Amino acid sequence: MDSSEPAFGYHEKKLTPGLPGKGPSPGRIGLIADSHGNHAAMQACIQLLQENCGVQDFIHLGDLLDSLQRSHLDEMIQTLIRLNLPMVRGNNDFHIQNMLASGAPMQLPDNDKPGILSFLERLPMKIVYQDICFTHSLPFDSIRSLYEPVDNGTTIRARQIFKETPYHLICCGHSHTPVLFRFRAGVVTRERIRAEEAVFLDPGERYIIVVGASDNGECGVLDCSQKTYERICLNSSNS
Ligand SMILES: [Fe+2]
Repeated sequence: MDSSEPAFGYHEKKLTPGLPGKGPSPGRIGLIADSHGNHAAMQACIQLLQENCGVQDFIHLGDLLDSLQRSHLDEMIQTLIRLNLPMVRGNNDFHIQNMLASGAPMQLPDNDKPGILSFLERLPMKIVYQDICFTHSLPFDSIRSLYEPVDNGTTIRARQIFKETPYHLICCGHSHTPVLFRFRAGVVTRERIRAEEAVFLDPGERYIIVVGASDNGECGVLDCSQKTYERICLNSSNS
């Protein structure tokens, strides 16, 4: 694991079986991002990935919660804790963490606040395994990295990230539209990801994949053995 990653033992244990060379699992990982407190949509994405895609391991790419939609915050956190899936911090999670830490008024039972704050404080900025980085937006440790999108409609930021990081693949969220950036022979391209068509992740190239929001019915499957990524949509109208 990357030395910059906080030591969250359960993350490593949960992550390892789904990645290549670490056990009998074929290495299919369900990717969920930007749930924004939409409990039903997140559960539906997880169920779809389990039942239709044979996925048992998941990673959540942040913005589990939403600073403007706090009515089901406790329910959402209880589900995430029960699922015990690896997660990274999103800008909305960080905002709620700061509100709790500063004692800002929130419609939550006082008894629940310390547990939720502790949960949010323990979220890592990124999870790195071998040459794959899972993060909310930019793959760095700064607060700014939570807020600035990789995808601004151009390849400028993706080009900078490829230049400044060593990763073969970065999986992220934050922007809610699925998109893939490809680094091939010094050229960066921005590509639409077609739904339910596996994209081959050539070991000779590098990639940044923006998964899309589960809040909008988007999720994906990374197959580390087959070296593919597949965009999965809850609703066929998304594709
Ligand atoms: Fe975000």
